[in-house]
Amino acid sequence: MSDTPWWRRAVVYEVYVRSFADSGEDGLGDVPGIRSRLPYLADLGVDALWITPWYPSPLADGGYDVAEYCDVDPRLGSLADVDALLTDAHAAGLRVLVDLVPSHTSVEHPWFTAAVRAGPGSPERALYVLREGRGADGELPPNDWISAFGGPAWTRLVEPDGRPGQWYLHTFAPEQPDLDWSTEEVRSRFDEVLRFWLDRGVDGLRVDAVPAIGKDLTLPDAGHAPGALFESSSWVDSPQWDGDWVHDVVRRWRAVVDEYPGDRVLVSEAVVAGPERTSRYVRPDEMHTTFNFDHLHCPWDAVALREVVDATRVALDPTGAPATWVLSNHDETRHVTRYGREETGVGVMGFDGNAPSDLVLGLRRARAAALLMFALPGSAYVYQGEELGLPEVTDLPEDVLQDPTWVRSGHTVRGRDGCRVPLPWSGDAPPYGNGSGEPWLPQPASWAGLTVAAQDGDPASTLTLYRTALALRRSLADLVGEDLAWDDTDPQVLSFRRGSGFRCVVNLGADPVPVDGEVLLASGPLAAGQLPPDTAVWVRA
Ligand code: NOJ
Repeated sequence: MSDTPWWRRAVVYEVYVRSFADSGEDGLGDVPGIRSRLPYLADLGVDALWITPWYPSPLADGGYDVAEYCDVDPRLGSLADVDALLTDAHAAGLRVLVDLVPSHTSVEHPWFTAAVRAGPGSPERALYVLREGRGADGELPPNDWISAFGGPAWTRLVEPDGRPGQWYLHTFAPEQPDLDWSTEEVRSRFDEVLRFWLDRGVDGLRVDAVPAIGKDLTLPDAGHAPGALFESSSWVDSPQWDGDWVHDVVRRWRAVVDEYPGDRVLVSEAVVAGPERTSRYVRPDEMHTTFNFDHLHCPWDAVALREVVDATRVALDPTGAPATWVLSNHDETRHVTRYGREETGVGVMGFDGNAPSDLVLGLRRARAAALLMFALPGSAYVYQGEELGLPEVTDLPEDVLQDPTWVRSGHTVRGRDGCRVPLPWSGDAPPYGNGSGEPWLPQPASWAGLTVAAQDGDPASTLTLYRTALALRRSLADLVGEDLAWDDTDPQVLSFRRGSGFRCVVNLGADPVPVDGEVLLASGPLAAGQLPPDTAVWVRA
């Protein structure tokens, strides 16, 4: 298997840059902070990092509002820091993926400010989706489309002469105007952005909100109900999302990446309706892999999880692409909290409320879910802090909330800040060794026992479980292939074999179940050979 590309079974660690590690005292994680923690990541046993946007940004959407694609925000470091990070990461055996945000820019991007200045009909305006409004004076938006963060997807410009003018489309916040990807100009500008990072030596790109590119530019009404929320995962045939022509764009990126040696990879963020539509993004001349949101959104339920595993593998089979598995990311409620709720499936992009959670139960399930994920064939994603068993911070004071969802939902949806609280590294009190300043989102007092230092070396800690699981995943020959064979079991138990003697058993039922074989690793203590509820085990048969 030595000629298998690394990304087919890589464990990729998501670094949310502003919250990972602050090298200074401004309370904001940064590129030198990531570099200083590379030994931790190598020791954890991951293969690659995906680093969320580090570009200059006014931070209307946590950096996904990019004001310059080929630079680093000075608050986070410099291009020289990136070069040093790449050198050190590669020396430590870690690959690095950067985050490309092609569907929209920031309103502060020079392309957009030039478009506003240049006026209607100009080539500068042709880069964006700008239209006249409806109504006698153009005072109504061009159609009924909605924004992912609530409210309409259109904002009216004030023209250079001071009069109200054209409307611009923004699938996300008003500070994120959508680019018009039907234009050759936008496509060729992004070819250069891709080359800029590939030339610098990155190992690949995670590409943001890819289906947003495939909007129907004839702009028909979508027929949304008043007050509808953006739920892309349930949208089929929506004119706002996932139109077939997006794949022409994806093929163009792939052609650029293929100019480069060394197994560079494209990973798509495509939240679309189900495994079949997801698989279209990884056809042989498109992306290499795509996040498995069906897995992330799946409730803690054996039948549902088995269906997701099977449907994923069946849908991907004709493409040849490997599966990916993902439990959490910077947009979703942390899974310790989700799994401790009555409703264990997650809503999309923070739209899943703030129901109470039994965190002891949630952590037990999260640990079992990790062993399930790492035992499955394909690539897995770890969101920073899940290796510490961090819960969502659900009680952030309202005046610190920064997610645009909070304001745009009329202060009804708190949004995604609760999974973005800076990591606790060491010490008994905030900032827990994460720099020396006040963290940009406050860390809870209850995290003192969850720091890396507190968990390091503790055989019962979640950090030790992750380290052990990742080391075994690397060393076990049975896990190298992409095979999986289910055992015939109680429907509340997931049990499957890999290779010639590996078995993973996860008990999602209410009663203990017997397990045979030599225990390699368990997510919680076994009692007299019995696997308790909400516990997973790896055994050699
Ligand atoms: C998906 C990103 O993960 C999310 O954080 C962001 O708000 C949207 N795309 C818009 O860029």
